[in-house]
Amino acid sequence: MSKILIIDDEPGIRTVLTDILEDENYQVFSAVDGFEGLALLKQEAVDVIILDVWLPNMGGIDVLKEIKKEYPEIEVILISGHANIDIAVKAVKLGAFDFLEKPLSLEKVTTLIRNAIEMESLRKENRNLRSSLFMDDEMIGKSPGMMKIQALINQSAASNAKILILGDNGTGKELIARKIHLKSQRADGPFVEVNCAAIPDTLIESELFGHEKGAFTGAIARRKGKFEMAHGGTLFLDEVADMSLNAQAKVLRAIQELKFERIGGEKSITVDFRLIAATNKDIQNEIREGRFREDLYFRLNVVPIFVPPLKDRPEDLKDLIAYFVEKQRGDGEVKTISPEGIKILEKYSWPGNIRELKNFIERITIMTDENVILPDIVTYYLGEKQQSTTSNSLKDFEGMKLNEAKDRFERMLLMQKLEEHDYNISQTAQILGIYPSNLHGKIKKFNIEIKK
Ligand SMILES: Nc1ncnc2c1ncn2[C@@H]1O[C@H](COP(=O)(O)OP(=O)(O)OP(=O)(O)O)[C@@H](O)[C@H]1O
Ligand SMILES: [Mg+2]
Repeated sequence: MSKILIIDDEPGIRTVLTDILEDENYQVFSAVDGFEGLALLKQEAVDVIILDVWLPNMGGIDVLKEIKKEYPEIEVILISGHANIDIAVKAVKLGAFDFLEKPLSLEKVTTLIRNAIEMESLRKENRNLRSSLFMDDEMIGKSPGMMKIQALINQSAASNAKILILGDNGTGKELIARKIHLKSQRADGPFVEVNCAAIPDTLIESELFGHEKGAFTGAIARRKGKFEMAHGGTLFLDEVADMSLNAQAKVLRAIQELKFERIGGEKSITVDFRLIAATNKDIQNEIREGRFREDLYFRLNVVPIFVPPLKDRPEDLKDLIAYFVEKQRGDGEVKTISPEGIKILEKYSWPGNIRELKNFIERITIMTDENVILPDIVTYYLGEKQQSTTSNSLKDFEGMKLNEAKDRFERMLLMQKLEEHDYNISQTAQILGIYPSNLHGKIKKFNIEIKK
């Protein structure tokens, strides 16, 4: 339900507008002046504000400026009398959505509100679209394992059941989560991803639940959390087993009650989303070792989906290769991998799973000018990869001082892990157990080339 705030000192206007808008199924708040209105915004995540131009204490234009400074995402509609229409025009230049002239036409009010809300949700959608552009793969594979996953996606998408996706790095957990969202009734709503491993423990609460301005040092403006942003859609808690026990306790409470408070806020916020979680950790083991709450596990694990590693579904390899090669095709330029080349790829174990395969295919299709990618090219690049990833002989370090050898080892390890993770800094940092900023520093220090 969209939330609307009316700021007007005339009780008559407040009552009339409240009645109309409540009939249209909006949740309506009202305030008698700018101060009261701004105070209310600290408590409520409002979508649209109707603001009188002429207000006591603080003029409408000043209130508008204040709103746009603090909450640029909220659309503001001005109400103006005929005498101050020039001010209303100025307001639109300052970022107001539009203005209404008194006497108010009911029809105009409702249309404008509808347009403003549509504008807000279009913006949200745009942001979502931009993030989903990085994940436009189809789900390829006809192995029994993949067929089972497809069936699970189809069965569970329509329900609201929580889903827990388990599988190694690069097996396709995020892709599965996105497919479920797209097949669900919430497909038009947001898909909000939280990478629990990439957020330091001190910030995770604010990331998930949001905060009020001034809730802690550095909280310079009110901020919506991911829970709130996922309202009406799907919340994807990625790398869920990497959350601290402290954060797990808070998440458990919030998903049990579907209710939480922003940090520094008093009101509890009710949300409605479908929850999907994923991890590449052995979660049973995490529970045994006391690193993951069993009660949270039971909550999340309503529908488990286990994604097998690529080496356990060799039947899929051919289809995946064909798919990724086809995807790489430039302007009409078709490339294929020779059957012998494919055989070589089939023998490799793909520890980085589908992500590694996808990167590899991209690499060899870019690196060869021929239309048919010959086995020696495949062997060459696969060999390069194996060399760079399996060089662990002490001979490599012969004649080196300890510090020099340590640096060399560190550089090799970083290069290998970065490649395995698609040069994704936060993921690689997580695997290595360091902060992304730390990894950035090391990339600079060792002069490592980022290939993406
Ligand atoms: N069945 C599939 N068909 C085609 N592409 C796939 C398939 N599974 C995964 N991919 C692609 O492989 C890449 C890695 O997948 P994804 O990010 O979903 O893996 P993940 O399990 O979340 O990995 P990680 O644990 O490292 O986060 C993505 O580009 C994705 O689109
Ligand atoms: Mg992932």
